[in-house]
Amino acid sequence: MSTPVLPCTPEAVAHTVAEAARVLRRGGLVAFPTETVYGLGANALDPAAVARIFTAKGRPATNPLIVHVADRAAVCRVATAWPDEAAQLADRFWPGPLTLVLPRHPDVPDVVTGGGPTVAVRIPAHPIALRLLRECGLPLSAPSANRSTALSPTRAEHVLRDLDGKVDLILDGGPTPGGIESTVIDVTVRPARLLRPGLIDPAALEAVLGPIERVGRSASASEAALPSPGMLSRHYAPRATLECLPRNAAAGRVGALRDAGFLVGWLTCDPVEAEMAPLGVLVRLLPADPLGYAALLYASLHDLDAAGVDRIVVTDPPGGDAWLAIHDRLRRAAHP
Ligand code: TXA
Ligand code: MG
Repeated sequence: MSTPVLPCTPEAVAHTVAEAARVLRRGGLVAFPTETVYGLGANALDPAAVARIFTAKGRPATNPLIVHVADRAAVCRVATAWPDEAAQLADRFWPGPLTLVLPRHPDVPDVVTGGGPTVAVRIPAHPIALRLLRECGLPLSAPSANRSTALSPTRAEHVLRDLDGKVDLILDGGPTPGGIESTVIDVTVRPARLLRPGLIDPAALEAVLGPIERVGRSASASEAALPSPGMLSRHYAPRATLECLPRNAAAGRVGALRDAGFLVGWLTCDPVEAEMAPLGVLVRLLPADPLGYAALLYASLHDLDAAGVDRIVVTDPPGGDAWLAIHDRLRRAAHP
């Protein structure tokens, strides 16, 4: 069985969203665009519907899901408290790519939270996601719409490639603008704790809250030490083996791999390096600013995979807070 992909053009969007809302109310699975990546949605208050997400993705049951809501009033259906920190962050960043971990409401089933006492919530900024949330009138659990540990999807075709036949409907809203996932912050603890770096960088959070705890920063943190069960070491990974190298070593490695007979893809944000690429190597030049880089990172990796490369070399992007989420994703993509 193949999954229908419905367009969200101005003429089609009303019909598409109405159909998607019907599927969701019946307990089905719908992939839809958000401003970060495509999500795979189900009614967050229906344990059987949410269980289907885990089956479709091959996701470990211990990894909790983000609940998406249409507005602030809907937060109280899934969370029991609204700390000052949550209000301050929501004022500044919602709707948008920031996920708040809050005390869980008893109506939220265990399958959503991994059985834990907290629930992760966000209001997405994408017009189709918001329209769908309003039309179905439900909070939607929605992880990224990919097989567990694989690359997150930034286009409807990426969802189809990974999950065809496993989900009921895919809404095609074009490429997602953000390109990597939301920032996840736990506001049930003091100071608030950054669990997953994302599109909103730590400096922006600290401008609102003052100092936060940065769990996501440690490159060597063991999995057991991580408070967010979803922070698996290998994650966001393309099919091809990926390695990250410093600027002075990347070109040599690319050449050596090519000479050894591999079809090589090379990601860099240095135009000089891109010019020097050996013949036969597939180069993707990414923007040298973190938001521009994020917007194209997964799409470029998907493209290289689709082109059949054996190996991917990534020249280390710049360091610093604003690049934290990029380094986090690359480190996980490279993990064996
Ligand atoms: O941008 C995004 O956040 C996308 C779009 C679709 O909204 N969603 C997404 O979901 O990336 P997912 O399931 O791939 O990642 C959810 C992350 C995981 O790292 C998970 O462990 C963490 O959020 N998480 C969810 N609930 C949590 C909780 N109660 N406590 C701590 N971490 C939680
Ligand atoms: Mg994911």
